Amino acid sequence: MSKYLIINRIIVALGVCLALLPAAGAQQQQQYFDVPFVPTPYVVIEEMLRLAKVTPQDYVMDLGSGDGRVLITAAKRYGASGMGVDLDGDLVAESQASAADAGVSGRVSFQQQDLFKTDFSRATVITMYLLPGVMMRLQPRLLDLKPGTRLVSHDFRLGDWKPDVTTQIRKNTFLWIVPAKLAGPWKINADLPGEKQAIELEMRQQYQEVDGYGKFGSRHAQIWEARLTGDQLSFVMVDDRDRENEAALYFEGRVNGDVIEGRVRRGTGNAQTVHPWRAVRATAK
Ligand SMILES: C[S@@+](CC[C@H](N)C(=O)[O-])C[C@H]1O[C@@H](n2cnc3c(N)ncnc32)[C@H](O)[C@@H]1O
Repeated sequence: MSKYLIINRIIVALGVCLALLPAAGAQQQQQYFDVPFVPTPYVVIEEMLRLAKVTPQDYVMDLGSGDGRVLITAAKRYGASGMGVDLDGDLVAESQASAADAGVSGRVSFQQQDLFKTDFSRATVITMYLLPGVMMRLQPRLLDLKPGTRLVSHDFRLGDWKPDVTTQIRKNTFLWIVPAKLAGPWKINADLPGEKQAIELEMRQQYQEVDGYGKFGSRHAQIWEARLTGDQLSFVMVDDRDRENEAALYFEGRVNGDVIEGRVRRGTGNAQTVHPWRAVRATAK
């Protein structure tokens, strides 16, 4: 190989390396920080915490906590405790100093760690100002949290999971309440007047939206007005076992794993009677 060719190859190789350097740097930065630091304005923080109905009993986790302002406000204004995580060590140090200045460092802590490696099972409220791709990746883990956990986000949604509440005060804010898992077959025993019959129910679920159908005695039974908020379920069925004396059954109950327990009101006004009911998850056929 001629001297000229060797020098030429070295120059080309150097050029390629130089061209790739910024891209490699950007990729490294992107891998490290999934979202850049942009602080949430205080009025938007107020709205997020108002939507989540934060109280002193809450443990709030801010995923990507930036300068700590969301959590410090939750502690100062609402008496909550909690934890913030951020990959940026300088922001974590700044948050710890601000928490001390605000007199809330006994209740809130900040850790330098990756939100994707953080256990948030202790949270009763989660706050986020992240990007859509990050929200999509988090969605399955958030959906698996304890029913009733409140999730609030500034500006971005959790994929196709419809928010329970959306408000707009300068910016969009969204609230989701983690729903209990209901989909599948259930068997209800209700202490209703008349012949004792179990009600078989097949529930369908898309996030917090539920409906279903079942069998009551020998008849098919439709479910009406089904609502699921966290672990609180309500729905209506019509008791038409005796066509001369049919009435709506207003079921209300709390879902606890494979059991639902509550009360059912039969009829309305002075004809109303109230009875306990219990359902257990039936093994899918
Ligand atoms: C848009 S800022 C929001 C800051 C704060 N939550 C607020 O609302 O003011 C997003 C923050 O997420 C942090 N971040 C990005 N990727 C992260 C990751 N994988 N784990 C933890 N924090 C991350 C960034 O350093 C940045 O501070």
